[in-house]
Amino acid sequence: MAEFEPKIIGFLCNWCSYAGADLAGVSRIQYPTNIRIIRVMCSGRVDPVIVLEMLENGADGVTVTGCHPGDCHYVEGNLYEERKIKMLKKLVALTGLERERLRLEWVSAAEGQRFAQIVTEFTEEIKKLGPSPVSGNNPNPKILENLQAAKNAAASFTLRVLVGRERELTEKSNVYEEKIPQEEWDCLFSEVIEAEYIRQKIHLLAKAKPLSVKALAEAVELKPKAVLRQIVDMRRRNMIALDHIEGQTPFYTALEVE
Ligand code: FES
Repeated sequence: MAEFEPKIIGFLCNWCSYAGADLAGVSRIQYPTNIRIIRVMCSGRVDPVIVLEMLENGADGVTVTGCHPGDCHYVEGNLYEERKIKMLKKLVALTGLERERLRLEWVSAAEGQRFAQIVTEFTEEIKKLGPSPVSGNNPNPKILENLQAAKNAAASFTLRVLVGRERELTEKSNVYEEKIPQEEWDCLFSEVIEAEYIRQKIHLLAKAKPLSVKALAEAVELKPKAVLRQIVDMRRRNMIALDHIEGQTPFYTALEVE
């Protein structure tokens, strides 16, 4: 049987990493041909939703490479991307895919050898993980559904705002000279990411047909009490509404989110 050849998508920043890849090419440095390169002006332009779309469409791995910290031509684009990838890895793990399918690296224009080495290592790592469960002719429907919820979560106002403000809240003091310790922030943000992902899963399920709390809890594998807490929050956000009551059981339906 032929060896598994992973499909890898590489987003490369125009100013450093793409030039590094170019240098690897003109220097005739060998690296696996599994990577499909997409040139972007700055790594910070890579939207989390696009990365999830790549995985949804069967990519076995996605790498984003940008300028080294301090070298970004748009000052902090790479640092902003670093926070987005951190959030994305948590979302990807929630979907059931391995977070190792996602990688962020820094490559300068002079580092052709380093670029080749990163591609080689990443290709080997993905080969060890095996094909993505959503690639090929029989994609895993549950993971596909989870990826849709992850995409909606990544596009949500809450997560976008928190990713954008992380540095300000953890590195710079506010007017009261307070800042949140990074560890505390990571813990809190993980909880927010998970809650947003669950809300998006509930929303997708209730969009297909009205469901009771018990049915939703079974589908998202949580206790009914935890689901009910999210439903209260979702009603406040206009994401879900009461559809009808059967006996004494309320059924909920998803509302269009603007
Ligand atoms: Fe290269 Fe921003 S310009 S990461």
